[in-house]
Amino acid sequence: MAAAVAISSTVKYGIIGVGMMGREHLINLHHLRTEGVAVVAIADPHVPSQDLALQLAQSFNWPLKVVNAARKRQDILVQVGLEYRYMPPVAKLIEIVKGGNLGQVKMVAIREHRFPFLVKVNNWNRFNVNSGGTLVEKCCHFFDLMRLFAGANPVRVMASGAIDVNHKDEIYDGKVPDIIDNAYVIVEFDNGSRGMLDLCMFAEGSKNEQEISVVGHIGKGEAFVPESIVRFGTREKGRDGVHTLKAEDDRIKYDGLHHGSSYLEHLNFLSAVRAKGGQAPAVGLQDGLISVAIGVAAQFSIEKGRFVPIAEVMD
Ligand SMILES: NC(=O)c1ccc[n+]([C@@H]2O[C@H](COP(=O)([O-])OP(=O)(O)OC[C@H]3O[C@@H](n4cnc5c(N)ncnc54)[C@H](O)[C@@H]3O)[C@@H](O)[C@H]2O)c1
Repeated sequence: MAAAVAISSTVKYGIIGVGMMGREHLINLHHLRTEGVAVVAIADPHVPSQDLALQLAQSFNWPLKVVNAARKRQDILVQVGLEYRYMPPVAKLIEIVKGGNLGQVKMVAIREHRFPFLVKVNNWNRFNVNSGGTLVEKCCHFFDLMRLFAGANPVRVMASGAIDVNHKDEIYDGKVPDIIDNAYVIVEFDNGSRGMLDLCMFAEGSKNEQEISVVGHIGKGEAFVPESIVRFGTREKGRDGVHTLKAEDDRIKYDGLHHGSSYLEHLNFLSAVRAKGGQAPAVGLQDGLISVAIGVAAQFSIEKGRFVPIAEVMD
């Protein structure tokens, strides 16, 4: 997530890394221009990424120059970019769960069945040494959601996964990619609830990329992305009592590659920056740390073939 400083009424942004994701942030900020935002700095050593960002800046009529002034400010607010929380169907399911409609959450199952990893600058995402591995780099989002739904912290993690289909015929500097393309991960939480991730990255033949199911002692809720459908019902009312709704958010001005969630994330960030007397970020550093720690434990579990306590990786 970018850092921003509210020096005057304008909130000034610096973006470090203007590849695919950094450019999504740039476009979101362009759509937020009427909210009083300005991009004053970018930093990226990759000339094609710089050129693409500058093309965007020119088309938006922004000055761009690299400045370093924000780095040492004590008043900088840090918000971690776990934007799946803001996807309209996910946000709706969070509202349903936090509203107590399902009772005490016992199980959170997240299925991500999607296309393979995209090609990135210098192919950094093909190797565990650069990204921390698939379960860290992209699945931290799902571990964050599990923890949020469970309302608890992880205790231990067990995973099974492999690279079975993708990237086997690719070679970079003489090396074949080592990132896994499918896995099952089980996470146990300190309040007795559990989460499960079912990840497959050679599943283009899927209607939805993410299917999230949360079951409490009273009821069950589900969210489907990108269909943007949410369902919830109770044990008492059974199948006939299940509600189905379409989750939408008309504040979204740019869908990007994440169904408008990074736009909503920016709105949330701006409101935290502008809050009088300070406001905690919606997603803080501890949230980011634990979501990544679960991913690290899952990668380690695959390597070692055993449960990995979270304390082991936090140490
Ligand atoms: N939150 C999300 O949903 C989401 C989605 C995609 C990517 N990401 C994350 O965003 C990050 C970037 O991913 P991407 O898809 O934009 O990759 P990318 O390869 O398209 O872009 C990365 C950019 O960072 C630049 N870079 C590398 N080292 C740098 C440095 N030291 N200083 C400044 N710039 C540097 C590269 O030159 C490149 O232009 C990754 O950490 C990735 O995991 C998050």
